[in-house]
Amino acid sequence: MIQVFNYIADLQSYLKAKRDSGLTVGLVPTMGALHEGHLSLMRRAKKENDIAVASVFVNPVQFNNPVDLEKYPRTPERDVALLESAGCDAVFMPSVEEMYPAKVEDHYDFGAIEHVMEGACRPGHFNGVAIVVRKLFEIVEPNRAYFGEKDFQQLAIISKLVKDYNINLEVVPCDIVREKDGLAMSSRNMRLNADERAIAPMIYKVLRETVAEYETMSPAEMKALALKKYSDIKQFDVEYVEIADETTLQSVSDWKDSEHARIFVALQLGPVRLIDNLRIY
Ligand code: PAF
Repeated sequence: MIQVFNYIADLQSYLKAKRDSGLTVGLVPTMGALHEGHLSLMRRAKKENDIAVASVFVNPVQFNNPVDLEKYPRTPERDVALLESAGCDAVFMPSVEEMYPAKVEDHYDFGAIEHVMEGACRPGHFNGVAIVVRKLFEIVEPNRAYFGEKDFQQLAIISKLVKDYNINLEVVPCDIVREKDGLAMSSRNMRLNADERAIAPMIYKVLRETVAEYETMSPAEMKALALKKYSDIKQFDVEYVEIADETTLQSVSDWKDSEHARIFVALQLGPVRLIDNLRIY
């Protein structure tokens, strides 16, 4: 039976007993409104650890847009039932006051990786992610923490956080989980209307078609091709397309300068901002 904790002290005493008996702990941090992508992280956490913990917390300090925060879907009862079905042992669902009893003033500097793409478009977003993720790591002290590659830049930021602050855990990157039609799973997808949902798979289709041209194109040509394909779809309002190195997240201008490159996109579709990415090589 899954255990639900609203208070840090209660979760910590539950976890201390588990750790004292030599059990390992895997953490899946989420903001709720769970989908199959989150559940696949949870199943993996349960497979690789004795105890699987999820957090469900819509973190206000990572939203730079108050409307986005207000409209962020919240489905707590459903989340608990889904987590239980995926093997979750304990879920941490704190209030904002429990997580932030005082105003948080921390300022992280992750260098070049935070100034591009999501970092450039959503000022303060990664600082807010780092604040909450570090807190969750300190509360749960997991052996492993699981994050999806849809938020590829977030994964890079969290890996750097763990390295810079010598946090003793393994960050486990997990493949993007997609709907049958290719749309990357996201809690935000539930805010799309039927027409928007019907066109949304084109986000991934364009990435795939563009990546297929890798042998014949320079990075700049590939980026131009993707932008052209997206601009032909009138419902899409593209924020950026980037072709970047997987480690530095900086733009690639010559394929030979990057061991692994990825194409990234962020766009607005109706009321929803969606992101996706795909490895080129
Ligand atoms: O990816 C998310 O859902 C959030 O950014 C995270 C990692 C749970 C932090 O709030």
